[in-house]
Amino acid sequence: MTKSLEGKVAIVTGGARGIGRAYAEALVGEDAAVLIADMLEAEGEATAAEIRAKGGRAVFQKVDVSDPDSTEAMAARAMAEFGGIDILVNNAAMFASLIGGPMDSISIERWDRTMAVNVKGPWLCSKAVVPHMRARGGGAIVNQSSISAYGMAYMLDYTSSKAAVIGMTKSLASELGKDNIRVNCIAPGGTATEGYSQIMGGNMAIAEERAKATQLIAEQMMPDAMVGTLLHLVSDGARFVTGQTLVVDGGRYFLG
Ligand SMILES: NC(=O)c1ccc[n+]([C@@H]2O[C@H](COP(=O)([O-])OP(=O)(O)OC[C@H]3O[C@@H](n4cnc5c(N)ncnc54)[C@H](O)[C@@H]3O)[C@@H](O)[C@H]2O)c1
Repeated sequence: MTKSLEGKVAIVTGGARGIGRAYAEALVGEDAAVLIADMLEAEGEATAAEIRAKGGRAVFQKVDVSDPDSTEAMAARAMAEFGGIDILVNNAAMFASLIGGPMDSISIERWDRTMAVNVKGPWLCSKAVVPHMRARGGGAIVNQSSISAYGMAYMLDYTSSKAAVIGMTKSLASELGKDNIRVNCIAPGGTATEGYSQIMGGNMAIAEERAKATQLIAEQMMPDAMVGTLLHLVSDGARFVTGQTLVVDGGRYFLG
């Protein structure tokens, strides 16, 4: 049976592990060929090798999304390997290494690096990829925000960057609609990944308690919690969906 993304080529940034890895595996599961772009070389190579071992098409490229030479090389590699680009998932972010604290505890260097990766990164990746999408007659970009964008305290650089991603999604969607390129965004709630565990100091029991206490769907979300939303947003079924941010948080924000 034909899978929904047969013949499509996707790039997933931050795809070496965590939510990005789940996205890459889901896209391959629908027969897309995937370039995994990440700074983590060993994990990225291992993820791509595991996908290939199961019969999927995946390659790894070491990429720093904040560096324009690196993002151009990323697009060039996808073109060389797979001959086109249809889908870009802007998932990579400064997240795991960010220690929460009051706004005056954030260094200028940390603020600049968070913005460079989380805001400039999706722009640079889009800039590198859009000409190739235009050449294919269209495409789908999915950005990764966070529910923290809606007002979480004590991580001002991160929350500001994730709010910027929601604005970028709308502006880019407005600009690229004429090229048949749709731009949407996913805003996950707390999800059990290596990055979240690092932020929690390895204490995921507290994270799980929090999920149970604050979500309508009272379960800890796992890295694959957003894949159904991603697959919908990149599918023909979402042909007229653009500029949107879908919150996937088990209903946490209903509770305030
Ligand atoms: N886990 C959560 O609770 C949660 C909640 C909301 C949003 N998010 C967002 O989801 C995305 C994935 O998060 P995760 O939990 O899987 O985190 P993670 O830290 O486990 O994974 C992030 C990946 O991005 C990569 N990366 C970081 N900087 C990079 C750069 N400059 N260039 C290329 N790759 C880079 C990392 O190496 C890592 O593989 C992030 O955008 C994060 O902000 C996560």
